[in-house]
Amino acid sequence: MPLELPLIATDRLVVRPALQDDVPEIVKYYRDNRTFLAPFEPIRPDNFFTPVFWQEQVDKNLIEFNYSQALRFFLFKKNSKIIIGTANFTQFIYGASESCVLGYNLAKTEQGKGYMSEALQASIHYLFEDLNLHRITANYMPHNRRSGNLLRRLGFVVEGYARDYLLIDGKWEDHVLTSLINPIWKADWREKMVQGNVVK
Ligand SMILES: CC(C)(COP(=O)(O)OP(=O)(O)OC[C@H]1O[C@@H](n2cnc3c(N)ncnc32)[C@H](O)[C@@H]1OP(=O)(O)O)[C@@H](O)C(=O)NCCC(=O)NCCS
Repeated sequence: MPLELPLIATDRLVVRPALQDDVPEIVKYYRDNRTFLAPFEPIRPDNFFTPVFWQEQVDKNLIEFNYSQALRFFLFKKNSKIIIGTANFTQFIYGASESCVLGYNLAKTEQGKGYMSEALQASIHYLFEDLNLHRITANYMPHNRRSGNLLRRLGFVVEGYARDYLLIDGKWEDHVLTSLINPIWKADWREKMVQGNVVK
């Protein structure tokens, strides 16, 4: 039995996976922020900015979640359909690791208002409390001051420095490696979930 799809309400946002109805807003978000986000992301093919791409991607995202492989959130302004950012928890690894990787982005017009901190605090709580993952890793380019500050505020600890780590905007970029450990990790949780037939 798959986990219930999370819907997280914060003071100013709703944080949840996207559904097919959200596709027009997703496309608008990425088109509006294409130039702004380009220096922080892999090069996107032109079809990334089309409804057809996102119709397929939304379904894939839901399948990934059902198979406990990833959880890709969109940030909606409360009481609206407007998307202002994304927070992707991907590469779920179980067994001896119980970890995932976090990536995020926020609309150009919404920078410096605390929205990403608000969304991540709540979604990290879900990942730790409800999914019981043990470690979230997040990595940023040394010159990305806003990203480094955000992770520090959330309690992520610097663990290393990786040269030529990710291919960003067509160039291999060094990254600072950080992680956050789950302070409320429950040792017997997985056994209980497997018995309840929740985890695949
Ligand atoms: C990284 C990124 C998400 C950070 O966004 P952000 O808006 O700085 O992050 P926060 O939501 O934590 O906001 C914190 C800022 O809002 C301010 N703020 C204003 N109102 C606030 C409130 N109510 N609550 C908290 N902070 C508030 C804080 O003072 C802080 O400003 P400062 O950094 O100038 O001191 C954003 O810069 C981004 O999308 N960058 C491009 C993509 C990217 O870098 N992705 C990550 C790749 S590793």
